[in-house]
Amino acid sequence: TQYAAIGLLRATRILPVVTVASAEQGVAVARALLAGGITAIEITLRTPAAIEAIAAVKRDVDGIAVGAGTVLTPGQIDAVRAAGAQFLVTPGTPPALADALAMCGLPAVPGAATPTELLALHARGFRVCKLFPASAVGGLPLVRALQAPLADVLLCPTGGIGEADAPHYLAERNVACVGGSWMVRADWIAQGRYDLVSEASARSLAAIG
Ligand code: 3PG
Repeated sequence: TQYAAIGLLRATRILPVVTVASAEQGVAVARALLAGGITAIEITLRTPAAIEAIAAVKRDVDGIAVGAGTVLTPGQIDAVRAAGAQFLVTPGTPPALADALAMCGLPAVPGAATPTELLALHARGFRVCKLFPASAVGGLPLVRALQAPLADVLLCPTGGIGEADAPHYLAERNVACVGGSWMVRADWIAQGRYDLVSEASARSLAAIG
């Protein structure tokens, strides 16, 4: 499942982190991202609509992998699996959550912020981790500093990354994908400006080249 996680992150290259107020919003955002060329969506478990939105995207939108984000406890995993989530992302990964992710059978991208946390996850078999909150804990200099000592840990830096930063992160050999919400801004979603979501997605992918 780690190969599946790496494969889907490398395929999309940009992982949108979306918080939705309804299932319909989730479907509209997923379609807008796909129109802009993005092939994965992480829906955060921060709103009551999240589970329903994951199920709706899985059912109604072909061509995009839908995952659950902000997975905080092992107890949330069954519900997101039942909804059809194709991958899981956590902001941080205490040992019980790491064990549950390793056992759950779904591709997982566990969150970590330090070399020790990354090594603990690597020892459990994880090969790609979410570096979170990436810009706050060191940004690009941290990503670069991890390359030599943690040569076989791939990262999905997320947190505080903007459109202009993404290409720089993706140019690093230990970065599989960059996550963020810059192309799924809450004000655009609230106003139904899904056209802006598509435009920002396409622009971000074009900038990566
Ligand atoms: C996350 O949980 O990954 C963040 O909310 C996404 O980070 P960003 O909003 O700073 O891009």
